[in-house]
Amino acid sequence: MKKNSQLWHPNTQMSEWSDFTTIVRGKGMWLIDDHGTKYLDGVASMWCNVWGHSRKELVNAIIKQTKKLQHSPLFNFTNESSEILSKKLIDICPGMSSVFFTDNGSTAMEVSIKIALQYWKNIGLENKTKIATLKNGYHGDTFGAMSVGYVPEFFSKFKSKLFQTIQFEAPNPYHSPKNLSIKEFEDKCIENIENRFSSDDSIAAFVMESGAQVAGGVIIYPPNFQKRINSLCKKHNVLFVLDEIATGFGRLGSMIEYEKQNCKPDIVSYGKMLTGGYLTLAATLTTKNISNSFLGSFNEMKHLFHGHTYTGNPISTSLALKNLQLYEEKKLIKKIQKTSRVFINRKKELSNLDLVGDVRYKGMLMGIELVSDKNKKTPIQTKKSINNVIFEEGKKHNVFFRTLGNIIMLVPPLAISEKELNFLIDGTIKTIKGISKKII
Ligand SMILES: Cc1ncc(COP(=O)(O)O)c(C=O)c1O
Repeated sequence: MKKNSQLWHPNTQMSEWSDFTTIVRGKGMWLIDDHGTKYLDGVASMWCNVWGHSRKELVNAIIKQTKKLQHSPLFNFTNESSEILSKKLIDICPGMSSVFFTDNGSTAMEVSIKIALQYWKNIGLENKTKIATLKNGYHGDTFGAMSVGYVPEFFSKFKSKLFQTIQFEAPNPYHSPKNLSIKEFEDKCIENIENRFSSDDSIAAFVMESGAQVAGGVIIYPPNFQKRINSLCKKHNVLFVLDEIATGFGRLGSMIEYEKQNCKPDIVSYGKMLTGGYLTLAATLTTKNISNSFLGSFNEMKHLFHGHTYTGNPISTSLALKNLQLYEEKKLIKKIQKTSRVFINRKKELSNLDLVGDVRYKGMLMGIELVSDKNKKTPIQTKKSINNVIFEEGKKHNVFFRTLGNIIMLVPPLAISEKELNFLIDGTIKTIKGISKKII
């Protein structure tokens, strides 16, 4: 544990870290510590940074709004930037009609779940109370989010207090059963869902990440998998609830991932990139059908029982507006599609490394699975946590990594240049080579 510090760091074994590097500034893609050393932000400061650090248009948007109105609640009042942002989000999200703001991804998912459950009560179908999910999904760290996104290594300590969900397998090409092709594996997963849906009319919603499971290990769905689940939901009267908190707004190379996947969700949530990664804000959007079900006289008690102090904070929402304006002006999605070709070009170099079992990517997201035996796909093991070992080695090469288990995640700011992305991959290769002596 660091001496003279009372600070408890997230998801961190504090006894393992004798010291923490202090970041004092950010400029472009770089984080700079108190000794002036620069680190390429390979994690987009927890997957949210879009333009790099200290982008002047965003900083100015914060200053401008801060001088005018810092916070006023959406309880009884409204504010201009939240109104305009909700219109803007509806414009870019096909099929959506209402926006509910929260302050982070986990709470956006809590709202999604509550809306989905209450919807069925509002329309008088009291028996629809179960939630279906995909194994290895991740939707945040609050209790509802942990329940729908149960990752055993993260949440087993709380299992007794989580609500039950019906979990289905998601096809993972690298770990598919030996006797099945990936297509057969996908068909099997879909068949399992269909069988359950056909025999159980009490399922309220199917909750899943859109496009890929990120924290679950960068598992990119086969092309039609998500759409097939969407179709089953429609057929069996189950709400389709998507989480685009990590995968929307360009991370997978599309602005609205469900549109790319030809899906029509009933509820969808965004967070992380919404403000460009500078302030905390998330949004849960629903179709008209869903939001209309919450209308009635006050005494019917059909309204949504949810709200946070900072719901619709005007500094966050005006910053998000500026961020969205930049997406359009700078044609960011096109830029991501071009820059991310670097991942394609350099995949082989990474795959050829001794410790690399699998490399998977989509848009501006890459997962590199580290194994000690390529044939057996045995995850690497290190004495200290793999995250700690990779982070320390990465620092030697001026790159900031945060791994998930044995998977190195490359999740850079979305506007990264080709040159900087190549720097990140060079640093990744040096880091993987550098840790080979630390494998036990
Ligand atoms: C898909 C997904 N949903 C929800 C969350 C939770 O967001 P937050 O950390 O802002 O609560 C995350 C966080 O990584 C995420 O990846």
